Amino acid sequence: MSNWVRAHTNIALIKYWGKKDEDLIIPMNNSLSLTLDAFYTDTRVTFDDALTADELYLDDMLQDFTALKKVKTVLDLVREKAGIRSKAKVESYNHVPTAAGLASSASGLAALAGAASLAAGLELSSVELSRLARRGSGSASRSIYGGFAEWQKGSSDETSFAVPVDDADWDIGMLFIVVSDKKKDVSSREGMSRTVRTSPFYQGWLDSLDEDLNAMKQAIKKQDIDKVGVIAEQNALKMHATTLGAKPPFTYWSPDSLKAMDSVRALREQGYSVYFTMDAGPNVKLICRQSQLEEIRTHLLSDFTGSQLIAARPGPALHVVTG
Ligand code: DP6
Repeated sequence: MSNWVRAHTNIALIKYWGKKDEDLIIPMNNSLSLTLDAFYTDTRVTFDDALTADELYLDDMLQDFTALKKVKTVLDLVREKAGIRSKAKVESYNHVPTAAGLASSASGLAALAGAASLAAGLELSSVELSRLARRGSGSASRSIYGGFAEWQKGSSDETSFAVPVDDADWDIGMLFIVVSDKKKDVSSREGMSRTVRTSPFYQGWLDSLDEDLNAMKQAIKKQDIDKVGVIAEQNALKMHATTLGAKPPFTYWSPDSLKAMDSVRALREQGYSVYFTMDAGPNVKLICRQSQLEEIRTHLLSDFTGSQLIAARPGPALHVVTG
């Protein structure tokens, strides 16, 4: 039997931005995402008594301690649960269409939660897997599920996990505009922490979230692409506005991000249902009808190169890779 586990990345339409508990990764707010087919991580874990330290291989390259930190958190939790003392070898492959700097911790830590618990012989429910993945990286809690998932903030380790919302088996897709493949200056972890501590705009962000979340769930239920897009775009802009009020201030936007936003607005004027969202980096992700992905991509080729444009469709839940 194969013990490779695959998790797909997810992009939040209602963003997770801020922690109430930085150690346990309990968020300040609920978030809601779409899992995508285009980017995923395959991971295998082997517990081995002969090892003297945990080892992480990413695309066949042995990683240093910094990359290992989040991984160790998840491995330690699995060891504790299963009563295992041996160190682990973790092999991970990121499947990203180009070297686009899009490899996300969401798919990585979700695949690790699945692979480590499988290797340890634990049979965990989706909720338990989501909690475990969350301890590695918050957004990973949502990559346990396919389609739309909501991470319910809860108030403790036991009550903070994601649940499935909708299988996204309708006309929705995403298009990534890759404007930079550089490592970000301010990690999402540091960025959200600084914002919570120092930005006077942070409370405004929090106050507006219930409305966004409820409206988003209604829009998904009605399969209304325009409502989904409008709410996601506004939600992302609000999140990014909080960073400008932080001390010291920062932004994830680059001139090319603004160029991508302008292209989206221009396409909208031509009648397309297309909207954008952004995370802790300059790349822009478009929300549109799956049936119009190719047409929109063709239009964007006048502003961007083919390799900058990556189409994605709704993706599946965490699963063991067979064969
Ligand atoms: C902007 O999940 O990477 O992408 O929990 O500190 O590992 P940690 O952060 P991470 O943050 C993701 C933030 C975001 C929004 C989102 O995915 O909801």
